Amino acid sequence: MCGIVAYIGKKEAYPILIKGLHRLEYRGYDSAGIALINGKLNVYKCKGKVADLENFAKDKDKSGTLGMGHTRWATHGAPNDANAHPHVSQDGKITIIHNGIIENYHPLKEGLKSRGHVFTSDTDTEVLAHLIEDIQKNENCDLAEAVRIALNEVIGAYAIVVISQEEPNQLIGAKKGSPMVVGVGDDEFFIASDATPIVEHTKNVVYLEDEEIAIIRRGEELKIKTIKNKNKTPYVQELEMQLEALEKGGYEHFMLKEIYEQPRSIKDTMRGRLDEEKLKAGLGGLRNYQQRMLNADRFIIVACGTSWHAGLVGEYLIEDLARIPVEVEYASEFRYRNPIITEKDVVIAISQSGETADTLAAIELAKSKGALIIGICNVVGSTIPRTTHAGSYTHAGPEIGVASTKAFTSQVTVLTMMAISLGYNKGTITEARYRQLVNELEAIPSKVEMALKANDQIKYIASLFKDARNFLYLGRGYNFPVALEGALKLKEISYIHAEGYPAAEMKHGPIALIDEEMPVVFIATKKGAYEKVVSNIQEVKARKGKIIAIVTEGDTTVKSMADFVIEIPDTEEELVPLLSAIPLQLLSYHIAVMRGCNVDQPRNLAKAVTVE
Ligand code: M6R
Repeated sequence: MCGIVAYIGKKEAYPILIKGLHRLEYRGYDSAGIALINGKLNVYKCKGKVADLENFAKDKDKSGTLGMGHTRWATHGAPNDANAHPHVSQDGKITIIHNGIIENYHPLKEGLKSRGHVFTSDTDTEVLAHLIEDIQKNENCDLAEAVRIALNEVIGAYAIVVISQEEPNQLIGAKKGSPMVVGVGDDEFFIASDATPIVEHTKNVVYLEDEEIAIIRRGEELKIKTIKNKNKTPYVQELEMQLEALEKGGYEHFMLKEIYEQPRSIKDTMRGRLDEEKLKAGLGGLRNYQQRMLNADRFIIVACGTSWHAGLVGEYLIEDLARIPVEVEYASEFRYRNPIITEKDVVIAISQSGETADTLAAIELAKSKGALIIGICNVVGSTIPRTTHAGSYTHAGPEIGVASTKAFTSQVTVLTMMAISLGYNKGTITEARYRQLVNELEAIPSKVEMALKANDQIKYIASLFKDARNFLYLGRGYNFPVALEGALKLKEISYIHAEGYPAAEMKHGPIALIDEEMPVVFIATKKGAYEKVVSNIQEVKARKGKIIAIVTEGDTTVKSMADFVIEIPDTEEELVPLLSAIPLQLLSYHIAVMRGCNVDQPRNLAKAVTVE
């Protein structure tokens, strides 16, 4: 979704801001803009990509050591030049960039209109620029105070940066509901919506809390106060993020890089948490809550998209190994359907970004009912881990491709460790089984490496099916969520319609779709309901569907029936999703590339969905 970067210091701001905007492109956006102050305020913005903005600003005055940039993902108003950020006040002296939604923008706008304000865009953000100007004039105060007063009138979520031509040595940032991080350098400061534009300049950062305002003045220390005017002491933390993680590192796309990173990212997820000898498969962050988890009546997993699919795998794992009932909920449905939640429930919120608005709202709801809330998140310092009672980071490293790949396998790895540990401590699995699973989990990174070796074959299969109009993905048991994930991956980056189903459900409807034009991807690994899946394959074959099957290496039964088979190494049934997801990621990647799609930034999608 929208991205923010801002700079104040001794260097020219423009190159820093443009580079920062490129770093933020992964979030998904449809217009971009920049504001610079050097004596006067210059604002350049346009629909399209950051490259379009660079082109637009090519021959213009781009000087100034104070400035800010924005990538906008449209909410209020179409993606066009007028609605792009920054927005300016009526007198053209104050300018603002904003992530989030001002819910009461309409009455605020009507009030301002009645006082003579004229608006040039359809956005809620422009209203805030005018409101700040209005307050500054009426209260005769400085910019920081006007921002503070304005934010007390605002309902909704925001991360904003405000600068004024009249106060050219000052950068103001504030947030509520949307993340904001301040980078502290030598005689320079940065503000951004996440750390990606900051990491190459400084590793010292301060994460703002809700309703905090950062007031940054040249030659002064960073000041933080709340919108209720209470001073706060900035807590400076060191960023763990490495710059290389934000580069493509020789790969054509971030998605491909991230698919190939999985042997390492899964290892990073397990690092220090797994030890067969010491009977350890524990997650440090959960140690103090283990008893409450073991005594829980029920686990409720809330998440969206790919994280929801990981949650489904978690349901199979936790019910299988720890015999605790699990429900998996779309966060967006859960939050609006008056769910029954008690203090004996444990809610597990899964989110790569840690910022998904619906997941956050589901957490707040469950928290208000007294449930224990556990987070499984990837982005360190994001909002969800700071909202939950306890949790585990996945440590997959930054995921830049909009299509989630390594985050999924890391989420499943955390859930696997959690289930194994709960099962052992609850006595629902034996010590021998525990050791077997821990051993096998340790072997998964090298098995993922082996699964990646099918890349060329998968590329060939992709070339044969790239023009298909529909795909069906079928799996059973642990491979059912993988089927859903395979279908989501394909549709989001290639724009081919794809459906995932439990294989046995096929005959209750989707079988009507099958003809010689329909590719059907079966995840037909050994164990589980393998024989049943083989029967489902026969049913598709009888109707001339084209069968692409993911099988356990050495399988001959499915090979004799399928048009194409892709082998993955054998493993314990509980761990299969960590391997069977890999070829499906590669299949959708290659199909999307061959169709000329923008793999890393698919149309209409955002990396972190911070609006409901
Ligand atoms: O950051 P989150 O894990 O909370 O995001 C949830 C979904 O928006 C996300 O998984 C989305 O479905 C991805 N584009 C899938 O690849």
